[in-house]
Amino acid sequence: MHLNTHLIHMPGNYLFAEIARRVSAYAPSAPRPLIRLGIGDVTQPLAPAITQAMAAASLEMGTPEGFHGYPPDQGYDFLRQAILDADYAPLGVQLALDDVFITDGAKTDTSALQELLAPDARIALTDPVYPVYVDSNAMAGRLGNYENDSWSRLATLPCNAENAFVPELPTEPVDMLYLCYPNNPTGTVLTRAQLKRFVDYALQTQTLILFDAAYKAYITDDAIPRSIYEIEGAEKIAIECCSFSKSAGFTGTRCAYTIIPQALTAQVDGQAVSLNALWRRRVASRQNGVSYPIQRAAAAALSPDGRAQVDAQVRGYMDNARQIVTAFTSAGLQVFGGVHAPYVWLRIPGGQSSWDFFDRLLHEAQVVGTPGSGFGPSGEGYLRLTAFNTAEATREALARILAIL
Ligand code: MLT
Repeated sequence: MHLNTHLIHMPGNYLFAEIARRVSAYAPSAPRPLIRLGIGDVTQPLAPAITQAMAAASLEMGTPEGFHGYPPDQGYDFLRQAILDADYAPLGVQLALDDVFITDGAKTDTSALQELLAPDARIALTDPVYPVYVDSNAMAGRLGNYENDSWSRLATLPCNAENAFVPELPTEPVDMLYLCYPNNPTGTVLTRAQLKRFVDYALQTQTLILFDAAYKAYITDDAIPRSIYEIEGAEKIAIECCSFSKSAGFTGTRCAYTIIPQALTAQVDGQAVSLNALWRRRVASRQNGVSYPIQRAAAAALSPDGRAQVDAQVRGYMDNARQIVTAFTSAGLQVFGGVHAPYVWLRIPGGQSSWDFFDRLLHEAQVVGTPGSGFGPSGEGYLRLTAFNTAEATREALARILAIL
């Protein structure tokens, strides 16, 4: 049996699986309940507009007239239209219904979209970065060998306090560049001018940008772009992945969408090949979409009532982020992010390594964070905290952390 050697030689565990392993090993002996500010998983119950729509659609499925079999490969028109109307029209971004692909999660698509590229295509990633982008390309055998904490065929763009978390352009030719803004894990954003620099570079070099906008609901300033398509020309060079997970509490409900504009083409043997058509071909063979009740629930999250309810939840999480930033800043610690994102990136005081500090927080404060080095070498010396717990738990976690520092 010839197994996938790239999968066999993957280094370590998936970051959040490793954290879960350490937490479960410790939890039974912990002197008090753990407070989880680790994985970015929401805690607020689904908003009423969403549960009502989901329940109504489920009941509809039990009737001869309302029964739905396989959903359309790209998703129901009612949801795709709602996305265009609610998420793009207000930004002045014109897209077509067929540009939108409904999927069960941004993780699914951000990990799968590398299948559009050749096996030997070159990839550039910011560092630190959401580990899914790295792992999916490594499993496909595109990143070469893993030695001394780095992949031999991967171009990394370091982001740290010294460059204000703004990556430089790649210095070597690459085929695809992943950008996630608001950023996971650092919680930082790019201004319109900074994002435009990447779009201009990509247009000039014909580098595909995969723009992960899963956290766009957390942007609190209209001057920060919520979509890469706010930048002129981006529809010719960028794919955008969005999610209902963090904007509407769908981490357990599962629904997301990917935009591949029909203007996005690549030259192959002198012909313009549509990436939208390629992805449509791939999706039709590989998935059967998202269930009708869940797509109705997602559409409800975009309705005026639903939007008001989920936006209130987002504001609640951002109050937590502010609480974290304020508490650490007042204690003289250096923190980044937390203003347009539900993540706060803490520079670990005293020079401890990320994993040592993670373990210390777990064992001495009974608080779970995420070690920065788990997101890449440039994350060493940092720890990520999420704003997704309740206000009370966040306050208690901060008191516990500050008490041990
Ligand atoms: C995270 O904590 O980085 C995210 O929750 C992971 C994800 O969205 O899959």
